[in-house]
Amino acid sequence: MIRLKQLDLPTVVQSPMANCTDLPFRLIARAHGMRFAFLEMISSEALVRDVRGTRELMQTSPDDRPVGAQLVGCDPDVMGEAAAKIEAMGFDLIDMNLGCPVPKIVSKGGGSMLLREPSMAQQIFTNVVRSVKRVPVTVKMRLGFSDSSGAEAATIACIAQDCGVDAIAVHGRTREQGYCGSANYEAIGRVKAAVSIPVFGNGDVVDVASARRLLDVSGCDGVMLGRGALGNPWIYEDIEAALAGRARPAAPDLAQRKRVLLRHVELQERYEEWPIGHLRRIICWYFKDVPGVAEFRNRINRAHTVAEMRALIDAF
Ligand SMILES: Cc1cc2nc3c(=O)[nH]c(=O)nc-3n(C[C@H](O)[C@H](O)[C@H](O)COP(=O)(O)O)c2cc1C
Repeated sequence: MIRLKQLDLPTVVQSPMANCTDLPFRLIARAHGMRFAFLEMISSEALVRDVRGTRELMQTSPDDRPVGAQLVGCDPDVMGEAAAKIEAMGFDLIDMNLGCPVPKIVSKGGGSMLLREPSMAQQIFTNVVRSVKRVPVTVKMRLGFSDSSGAEAATIACIAQDCGVDAIAVHGRTREQGYCGSANYEAIGRVKAAVSIPVFGNGDVVDVASARRLLDVSGCDGVMLGRGALGNPWIYEDIEAALAGRARPAAPDLAQRKRVLLRHVELQERYEEWPIGHLRRIICWYFKDVPGVAEFRNRINRAHTVAEMRALIDAF
């Protein structure tokens, strides 16, 4: 357990991922041992202006707890106002995004651009920390904009700590790298060494071995999972058990994967008005490494109803 004010975080948490970590994803993950997750990032501007669609992205339920919301933006006043709104909505933690590489966000000065703007980052941290009364505040950042040494992230992490931020997460890639190359755990370790607040390491954790390597090399307090958990809700319990020295659960067989996927499909249908496009991606997550998946994917892509998709899963 990693103690933050008002909240204990587990050693393994789920990162925010746009179009991925929605309510059905989180409910499936929780049923398999996931103990803390984020919504996908939310635009602070859109939240403050109540733009249509933003509330849907923030859909949650009483059994989806504890859950953190992540804000992206670059205006300190708007970020502060949005943070107060998130706290009032009942979320358990507020994170600020200093990692998003998308040009639409970066060109406005948000996401990973803030790694190059320490004084703007400081104003945002100060306003957000001041605007909330109770819940912990965290920052998720990349190693740097283009410098992969971790120096930029270390500077920002120290500023965050001085502003009263409770913990940080570091994705071991730069903005320039996008999602290419491998995450640099040594550089994450330099950020960890620069601060005394808890640090979660993130990037390329896909199993127990990679989680151990991240923790050993970086010295981080916890692991933040990203793509490794898509279609693999068993990963949380597996890593937590291994790290705690408990017996690891057996790997799921094909029948179990199908059962859980069908439940995921059911939840997606319940919570999403037009689930077909999203389901095409989700279904393939579950069978990434299974023989015959290429033909299966073609058939799923040609299916036009959820009933057809269900039948294809059953027959696979
Ligand atoms: C499809 C996708 C969406 C993402 N959305 C977000 C997001 O909303 N907020 C965020 O901080 N990071 C986001 N990320 C980054 C991930 O949270 C994570 O930092 C990154 O994928 C590295 O971890 P991994 O190598 O374990 O996947 C996203 C990544 C992907 C692939």
